[in-house]
Amino acid sequence: MQTAIINNQFLEKLRQLEKFVGNTPLYPITRLNTKPNVKIYAKLEWQQLSNSVKARAAFNIIKQAVLNGDIHEQKGLIDASSGNTAVAYATIGAKLGIPVTLCVPENASAAKKNALQALGATIIYTSRFGGTDEAQQKANELSLENPLQYFYTNQYANENNWKAHYNGTAQEIWNQTKEKVTHFIAGLGTTGTFVGTSRKLKELNKEIQTISLQPNSAMHGLEGWKHLESAIVPKIYDDTIADENRFVDTYEAFDLIKDAAKFEGLLLSPSAAANLLGALQLAEEIEEGVIVTTFADHASNYPEILETIL
Ligand SMILES: Cc1ncc(COP(=O)(O)O)c(C=O)c1O
Repeated sequence: MQTAIINNQFLEKLRQLEKFVGNTPLYPITRLNTKPNVKIYAKLEWQQLSNSVKARAAFNIIKQAVLNGDIHEQKGLIDASSGNTAVAYATIGAKLGIPVTLCVPENASAAKKNALQALGATIIYTSRFGGTDEAQQKANELSLENPLQYFYTNQYANENNWKAHYNGTAQEIWNQTKEKVTHFIAGLGTTGTFVGTSRKLKELNKEIQTISLQPNSAMHGLEGWKHLESAIVPKIYDDTIADENRFVDTYEAFDLIKDAAKFEGLLLSPSAAANLLGALQLAEEIEEGVIVTTFADHASNYPEILETIL
């Protein structure tokens, strides 16, 4: 009974917050795209709560955990994140009054660390060498040791991650392109964006081609992305969904940040530039079509990178 009352209060707050999640605009890439019969569009995912794509997954994960009674004002969430999910959890947690504890590799950007502290999250640093894999292990351990304190939301295994994109991102792309989308191309992090969006688009039209992107080496600078061969493969990943798997070079993506600024008026993060690179390369190979990708976040999240590429 108590849980139901708490849930109702949270539900109302969640409903109020929900309108700030998703529904991002589709931006046309016109000057860098040289193919007259190919259109390229990108969802500007920084134009929502917490300024990144991860608002979608974090919101849906928290919403379902609240509905299940797994988290509330006394029992918070714990998870591992390279940055954007952490900021999304902390933002939503601050607004709902839910404690948020995050295991973060110590080499995460200063901007993200500052944002997390300002939003009142508890940060537990893990080694820079262990990356997000070690941060995941730490979050799991702490939740097992302190089950009354933490619920491990585990974005890498949580079905509500990909479902946020299945119900949100994909449906938006379908509506915004007036059902004309022919290709969806996006990088793999937790894989939620790619798996959820592709799964739904294929249901809407099985002809739509879905292409996944990964860094072309284990040591890369595409924050938020995983090189699956050398990482723990997220449980939500489904290797039957992609029609094709492609690989992107960090340096080429960084070069494109400059061109995207100059010719498209966009200040892109490394992963957004890597998605644009994949989309431009794909456009070169087809005669006509409507290619859609996502720009997870904005260059302002990475001030140190902008300084080095100018
Ligand atoms: C900057 C950035 N790009 C891309 C991604 C990948 O998105 P997903 O986790 O849905 O695969 C993330 C995920 O954290 C990210 O932070």
